[in-house]
Amino acid sequence: MTFSATVLTLYPEMFPGPLGVSLSGDALARGVWSLEAKSIRDHGLGRHRTVDDTPAGGGVGMVLRCDVLAAALDAAAPPSDPRPRLLMSPRGRPLRQERVRALSAGPGVVLVCGRFEGVDERVIEGRGLEEVSIGDYVLSGGEIAAMVLLDACVRLLPGVMGKEASGHDESFEGNLLEYPHYTRPREWEGRTIPDALLSGNHAAIEKWRREQAERITRERRPDLLER
Ligand code: ADE
Repeated sequence: MTFSATVLTLYPEMFPGPLGVSLSGDALARGVWSLEAKSIRDHGLGRHRTVDDTPAGGGVGMVLRCDVLAAALDAAAPPSDPRPRLLMSPRGRPLRQERVRALSAGPGVVLVCGRFEGVDERVIEGRGLEEVSIGDYVLSGGEIAAMVLLDACVRLLPGVMGKEASGHDESFEGNLLEYPHYTRPREWEGRTIPDALLSGNHAAIEKWRREQAERITRERRPDLLER
């Protein structure tokens, strides 16, 4: 089954962008996943293909119209489409690896990229859009956020990552950040590789890595240990 991604955006020319390169780009070319970027403006109103208007109640900025976005959504993904519909937004629930895993095991995603000050709330309700954030900072639009979500999903699809890289002790698999890595040379600018890693003792190596992963997680992300 192919993981199918549809992105609704005012800037379809931004896609595939970085997703067309490297791991995700190779997988795209091999048909492991598919990507279509649809222009919301194709459903804009009038000669100027207007997609936005001023906020009800006043205030700065512009709001994406509900009728325009609904038309774009209905054309790209009819109600029978089983894929979750996500609206990239700093107001959404934060994206975590657990959710990425679940999405990547499904049929794909329909992603809506917000722009302007926001999207008319009625289309979020009326089309069952789930808001998803990629972090506590504000981007100028949802496109890069959509690319982040897709990259995270695609690398988990069967056959995308090499066997080595798909290991279970990566950061966030098991709520621990990754332990430190080393390779040759054995000494560099007076810094050496920790003895445990050179011992050849597999159990000692595993123990060292576990301790380091726990130390780094405690220092940087104590919140992960409480989950
Ligand atoms: N659009 C703007 N900022 C965003 C964020 N942090 N996450 C997802 N979409 C966004």
